[in-house]
Amino acid sequence: MSAAVVTLNITEHQQNLMIQSPVSGLSLQGCLTVPGDKSISHRALMLGAIAQGETLIQGLLLGEDPRSTASCFRAMGAEISELNTEQVIVKGIGLGQLQEPEDVLNAGNSGTTLRLMLGILASQPGRFFTVTGDSSLRSRPMSRVIKPLQQMGAQIWARKGATLAPLAIQGQQLKPIHYHSPIASAQVKSCILLAGLMVEGQTTVTEPALSRDHSERMLQAFGAQLSVDPESKSVTITGLAQLQGQTVIVPGDISSAAFWLVAGAIVPGSELLIENVGVNPTRTGVLEALSMMGADINLENQRVVAGEPVADLRVRYGQLKGCEIAGDVIPRLIDEIPILAVAAVFAEGTTVIRDAAELRVKESDRIAVMASQLNQMGARVTELPDGLEITGGTPLVGTDVDSHTDHRIAMSLAVAALNATGTTTIHGAEAAAISYPDFTTTLQRLCNQR
Ligand code: S3P
Repeated sequence: MSAAVVTLNITEHQQNLMIQSPVSGLSLQGCLTVPGDKSISHRALMLGAIAQGETLIQGLLLGEDPRSTASCFRAMGAEISELNTEQVIVKGIGLGQLQEPEDVLNAGNSGTTLRLMLGILASQPGRFFTVTGDSSLRSRPMSRVIKPLQQMGAQIWARKGATLAPLAIQGQQLKPIHYHSPIASAQVKSCILLAGLMVEGQTTVTEPALSRDHSERMLQAFGAQLSVDPESKSVTITGLAQLQGQTVIVPGDISSAAFWLVAGAIVPGSELLIENVGVNPTRTGVLEALSMMGADINLENQRVVAGEPVADLRVRYGQLKGCEIAGDVIPRLIDEIPILAVAAVFAEGTTVIRDAAELRVKESDRIAVMASQLNQMGARVTELPDGLEITGGTPLVGTDVDSHTDHRIAMSLAVAALNATGTTTIHGAEAAAISYPDFTTTLQRLCNQR
């Protein structure tokens, strides 16, 4: 029986998601697909826009973040058909051919749009661009991409000592560098590689730990001259090769699947099959962490689709145990830490998450917000400077919590609410639409009273 336990109250300004756990308890059952991968969706739109010829994108994420990317590149002359999941057609305008936009480019809530695009804009000689975003994005650090671009000769102006958007960019002919990034960030790496496309000679980025490699895979598929040295964690691009439009098939986003993996693992009696999920090894840290916690997850039907590994993921309920999550795995599960924190709340023993200070500069300060919101529900979560310490096993009680306009916080709290007694109201649940517009309807479909 589909239960009326998940309801959405929509007002003019925000949506409140109410989750009422029936006394008999819930279970989650069924088969589902998740929306297209956000990182791959951004890259397909961007590379399609600057390539020669047509790019066809199947399975694009229709969230607000890729919409921001599409609107920025449309404003610079790329023809992008109406966004849909069937087939988006991007008519590329060729390397170095972006037009100067008439207005400020708006990246909305999307750090990936802004940071990746900056590499492209900075390397368009003779054109001037201004870029902004919403209040969350305007408070996120941009010096991590501005500094290496300036080393390449870029001219960029920004607020607060060249650290915060809005930004102004005077496009230049840039020069190659070898950049040793102090942080393992795919946004930093991709920004420099995209700038390197327009630079004669070799531009190299070395990172301290391997971050997601979707840019490397897709740039190679589009014909860029790019080589990867896994041992030194370095990527080199040799500039001025034209990109050719391609067909991109976007797999389901493992970061969205993670909400169902944890929901299935912690809600008694649950079994879910999540089909067509991208399992690129630079993204599967969440599977390793959940396996350390003893979760019952199987990868079925493993295959490679358009250069990206894909599988169906089956999860069954089982008692979890605490573990330590730290070190090189962190960049491979960085977006999944809020939902892993929820898993830890229902695990036996203590879970410690370290080396994740980056979480403090995501769409919200995810360390502070997850600790405060889960504690409000009765959990025992302590903030660490670079992570969280979570003592599992305390029952959660439904109450009012807040997404802090962060999509991953909204969905993580919804999953926590499934195992709380009483009613939980998640204020600002509309944030989920950034990466998962159908989250609430899917949740309603999968919930059954036990
Ligand atoms: C992303 C990289 C990660 C991730 C973000 C998407 C990307 O950010 O958190 O959601 O698509 O390149 P960082 O590169 O800042 O770690």
